[in-house]
Amino acid sequence: MSADGLLPAVHVPVMLREVLAALASDPPREGWAVVDCTFGGGGYSAAILERFPEARVLAIDRDEDALAAAAAIRERYASGSTDPSGSTDPSGSAGLPRFEAFHLNFGDMERVLSGRGPFHSFVFDLGMSNMQLEDAERGFSFRLNAPLDMRMDRSERALNAAAALRRLPESDLADIFWRYGEERHARRIASEIERGRKKGVFIETTNDLVGAVRRAVNSKGSNAHPARRVFQALRIFVNDELGELEAGLAAARRLGGGDGAFVAAVSYHSLEDRIVKHTFKLWAEEQVGAAVIKNGKAFSMPQPDEVAKNFKARSAKLRVFRLNAQQDGE
Ligand SMILES: C[S@@+](CC[C@H](N)C(=O)[O-])C[C@H]1O[C@@H](n2cnc3c(N)ncnc32)[C@H](O)[C@@H]1O
Repeated sequence: MSADGLLPAVHVPVMLREVLAALASDPPREGWAVVDCTFGGGGYSAAILERFPEARVLAIDRDEDALAAAAAIRERYASGSTDPSGSTDPSGSAGLPRFEAFHLNFGDMERVLSGRGPFHSFVFDLGMSNMQLEDAERGFSFRLNAPLDMRMDRSERALNAAAALRRLPESDLADIFWRYGEERHARRIASEIERGRKKGVFIETTNDLVGAVRRAVNSKGSNAHPARRVFQALRIFVNDELGELEAGLAAARRLGGGDGAFVAAVSYHSLEDRIVKHTFKLWAEEQVGAAVIKNGKAFSMPQPDEVAKNFKARSAKLRVFRLNAQQDGE
């Protein structure tokens, strides 16, 4: 949603209905925090603030550009919420803000969120927003020619994608394309990149990379773009997306454990979903809570009407876990 037309409809939130329904099964109490770990275009944050008037939303994104939409939401929901600790604010101001946004990696969220609970839930809507994909400067899309950057947080000094393709050994590149893209032709593509490097030809742009993939792979007869998997692999590598997902889920468990928080994650490919699934399985074995089962299943997928309207939703999978609440006196 775009809260009352407040936000430009650039990113259509995926599986929002199902996420809201999961949180509504035990709605937030006055002043409890819902953490939107992947703010993006703010669609989830705005919808949560609308649906749960008692809740506060703490929004996080590692991409500073994404937080541009946060100002409009902050203004709209400026009124404070009662401090759940029961303390009264002597200044007479309205208490805690209903909405706060942080430029932050969710793997690192404890640094900022510790002490800002109690936490009702943590929501992860993984991957990229349409704004990132469609921003030609960012180099995420194989359809737009741009410098091959691919860092979600450009303030980080981490290697960008072009630098990775320039510096990493051929065998590491093949490993990245295989491991994070499940690309069958990983070796051939890495070898084509190496052939260029030996002649002093380096990959600087998205078009350069698409060209190298096309030279290495005969994609006749396939509907998918031949560079799709290599782009996904590089993006995951450059942003350490899988490592951050593990760290983010672990942080949610530590922050929300005592409060009995929900942890909800929407993933878009099997590498992400495998981590969410295994993490929740491990947590269940450790008896820190239980997976939320719906219609006999530990995950849900978007309804056909959503996929018909939003192609991006086709690969989405939602899993929800409910952490145990600490009993009084524990
Ligand atoms: C699919 S979009 C979220 C869309 C959002 N739910 C909405 O309704 O507009 C994913 C967002 O998560 C952010 N992101 C990805 N990994 C992150 C991380 N490790 N920490 C913080 N934000 C991250 C991306 O920058 C992107 O803006």
